[in-house]
Amino acid sequence: MAGRLFLKKSVDQIQREASAHHLKRVLGPVNLVFLGIGCIIGAGIYVMTGNAAANFAGPAVMLSFIIAGTACAFAGLCYAELASAMPVAGSAYTYSYATMGELFAWIMGWLLVLEYGVAAATVAVGWSGYAASFLKGLGVIIPPEFATSTIQSMADETGRLVFHVTNSVNLVATLAMLAVTALLVIGISESARVNNVIVFIKVGVLLVFIAMGISFINTDNWIPFIPESEGDFKYGIPGVFRAASVIFFAYVGFEAVSTAAAEAKNPHRDMPIGILGSLFVCTAIYMAVAAVLTGIVSYKDLGVPEPIAIAVDRMGMPSFSFFIKVGAIAGLTSVMLILTYGQSRVFFAMARDGLLPRMFSTIHPRFRTPWKGTIVLGVLIAIAASILPITILGDLVSLGTAFAFGIVCFSVLWLRKTRPDLHRPFRAPGGAWIPVLGIIFAGIMAAPLIADIILKATHGDPIPAFILGGYLVIGAALYAFYGLPNSRLAQGLDIIDDAPLPTAMEAAAHGLDERR
Ligand code: ALA
Repeated sequence: MAGRLFLKKSVDQIQREASAHHLKRVLGPVNLVFLGIGCIIGAGIYVMTGNAAANFAGPAVMLSFIIAGTACAFAGLCYAELASAMPVAGSAYTYSYATMGELFAWIMGWLLVLEYGVAAATVAVGWSGYAASFLKGLGVIIPPEFATSTIQSMADETGRLVFHVTNSVNLVATLAMLAVTALLVIGISESARVNNVIVFIKVGVLLVFIAMGISFINTDNWIPFIPESEGDFKYGIPGVFRAASVIFFAYVGFEAVSTAAAEAKNPHRDMPIGILGSLFVCTAIYMAVAAVLTGIVSYKDLGVPEPIAIAVDRMGMPSFSFFIKVGAIAGLTSVMLILTYGQSRVFFAMARDGLLPRMFSTIHPRFRTPWKGTIVLGVLIAIAASILPITILGDLVSLGTAFAFGIVCFSVLWLRKTRPDLHRPFRAPGGAWIPVLGIIFAGIMAAPLIADIILKATHGDPIPAFILGGYLVIGAALYAFYGLPNSRLAQGLDIIDDAPLPTAMEAAAHGLDERR
């Protein structure tokens, strides 16, 4: 039985599956950096920076961005090494299948649900905050019970924030998510040109915010830089690390660059440039935005759904506030599309392997998209976005991503040991250092999240622990009752029978229409 759980796909089989793509090597370093930025910038900076500063780090949220960015850089180099050896759709899920076997592949697939599916729900909630604020500016007031989540944090009698179930339903986030699902079902994914335009808009908005906001900074707002600890991760050094685990979310998506390895002109040189370059650009922008934000508004007032819009309002420029909200809505929409697309493709790969119901890999005859799976997924994500607050959703994403990064870094060490002969167009430099540091930093990201969930549960706030526990139980049950008995690999069946779909990166890079 134990051997059955660790059944591996051979790397050769994976390369055979990949070879069906016949991709052209057309992407240079600049394209890759743009692709990365297109996937990265979203709700993390537009929404979660405010909560991270208000509740955990104060102005020192700037340091939190460096810590989280460093964690991503180590993991990113490991992704690049695996992707260069196995350039396939499904990315980290497939790497785990080849290195550590089916059980780890399943775990990775289930973690990627957090990294993509739950992240899409998180961005949808962020979208609803900016959309409601935008409509308010036009005189259309959305009742709060239709633009806020069912579970909300409220102060209890001691002043501690505790999650409560309310009568609200975030209908705005639900509708946004269903609209994105409809676009994906009919096969609209972002083309390279649209990606570039949206990158320009969302980066442009942030750069203009930085440039115009500098003169409104009141340096008194930066003092104290690290507010004194109040316990339970509120401020102090623990708060800086807790904030790093929150804004770790802001970097989610960068590893999508690694899935373009098969299309990089010169993967050996361009993969690290694409990954590290997009991380570097985003870290610099994030730190500057955080500096301006906490310089204009006291960190204590930043725990709102649209912190950047609040800062702009303080600058007293209503027309600029309009521009910021439009930019945020465009940027967040594109990230929702990319994340949901990525999630549907991970489920597509798992269903082709027999680990999920066939429905997730059924292709629509006309649209050439995995339509049934995308609809089921979109509805589930929309439900999550209507019920859960951005804080719980974001923490789940960061936790899942930290574990996924840890497994990817470990896979690099494992594959180097078991398949030293394998051709790797890109190899993370410095021997074992980068994967080992990647594992350590993944632990640094995950530890405050786990500690906080336990702390909350012991302080009478068990909702986050219930949600995480429920998620793990559903995952284990699905594998035990569906994946294990239906695995095609275990039955000796090949899976190359379906026409492969383009990966998100292929689509974004070439404006590929899936109907090709
Ligand atoms: N990094 C993406 C965002 O911040 C997921 O929205």
